[in-house]
Amino acid sequence: MAAPQNPRSILLIVGGGIAAYKSLELIRLLRGAGVGVRTVLTKAGGQFVTALSLASLSGEKVYEDLFSLTDETEMGHIQLSRSADLVVIAPATADLLAKAAHGLANDLASTLLLASDKPVLAAPAMNWRMWEHPATRRNCAQLRADGVIFVGPNEGEMACGESGFGRMAEPEEIFAAIRTVLDGRAVTKGALTGKKLVVTAGPTHEPIDPVRYIANRSSGKQGYAIARAAVAAGADVTLVSGPVDLSPPAGGRVIQVETAREMAAAVDAALPCDIFIAAAAVADWRVASDHGEKIKKGSKGPPELKLVENPDILAGVSGRREARPTLIVGFAAETEKLIEYARKKLARKGCDLIVANDVSPEAGVMGGDENTMVIVTPEGETRWPKLGKDDAAQRLIEYLALRLAQREGV
Ligand code: C5P
Repeated sequence: MAAPQNPRSILLIVGGGIAAYKSLELIRLLRGAGVGVRTVLTKAGGQFVTALSLASLSGEKVYEDLFSLTDETEMGHIQLSRSADLVVIAPATADLLAKAAHGLANDLASTLLLASDKPVLAAPAMNWRMWEHPATRRNCAQLRADGVIFVGPNEGEMACGESGFGRMAEPEEIFAAIRTVLDGRAVTKGALTGKKLVVTAGPTHEPIDPVRYIANRSSGKQGYAIARAAVAAGADVTLVSGPVDLSPPAGGRVIQVETAREMAAAVDAALPCDIFIAAAAVADWRVASDHGEKIKKGSKGPPELKLVENPDILAGVSGRREARPTLIVGFAAETEKLIEYARKKLARKGCDLIVANDVSPEAGVMGGDENTMVIVTPEGETRWPKLGKDDAAQRLIEYLALRLAQREGV
């Protein structure tokens, strides 16, 4: 596997699970790719692997004790928590995840997690009942909401002889996830190199006659920001845009369309691709009759417009048997019951994830420069903080690069 483009450093927390032996292989992979690894061994972790093994493989001192006088004088725990580009917890036991979710700080690992300002990647490992327990589910939902990225667990046989979800991701998978996050953090450079993205953005205009049309309030800002972030991440981007007042993203291909039907045809022509992101606010209806001439005001009073449904582009792409993109992302702009409606949309459209936005007037998303995204997947939901649309786009692209790598089993 290719080394990360910009080798950096990892703080690896090894928790107490039989899967700890796999972390030795992970260190070997990281070191082979030129990534520096400092390890923290929890008390329980020390029951499964020795500090000597970790030190030999990482070529670095292993940290075990919060109250070690020598460690504190050499490098305080606060400094240690911020010394790497990424904190990785592997294995992430139910106990470690629970502590992190609740902000406990009663040993070195949990204190570091609380003190760190770096992204955190967790590779859970536990018995399947522990993984499925409502307490663990709650903790993981909270951690996701706090921005923790998860890799695995996988389904399979466990050391206890039982089988199910809870087996730690393989070292290669964790390595791929680390690489994606690290590359992503380097302004997403290269995270999507060689990948093709198709993004729809803006409103559609549905003509009533040659001078009038039906439209909506979409500014296209978020879709354009996503296209820019994808270009920055190295992707080959086709942006299919409705009428907006924005400059085309440098380095991307822009196809300007007006109506939903034109947008559907342009998307179709742009496929196949790896990721399809439907950020456009497509008009649900168009006027049934095609008025070639301007409708005149007259004695007959206002015209009666009969509306017919437009094609659903997102559902159409999601339902494709051939050339279905590996990842399909829909948007749900809702003014109430955000998650409930987003989840229904996920099922109805058949896409892989929904980015839900609160567009109630109080939220100020429509036409504004900020956005609060909630990522809704079949496994759960992650609420991101309020971010500028560019930052939200970058975070979404980083997240999608990671998911794509996981799907492709890179
Ligand atoms: O159906 P609704 O408009 O609520 O769904 C929103 C999502 O579906 C967005 O991702 C939007 O881009 C997509 N969509 C579409 N074609 C339509 C309507 C919506 O691709 N005709």
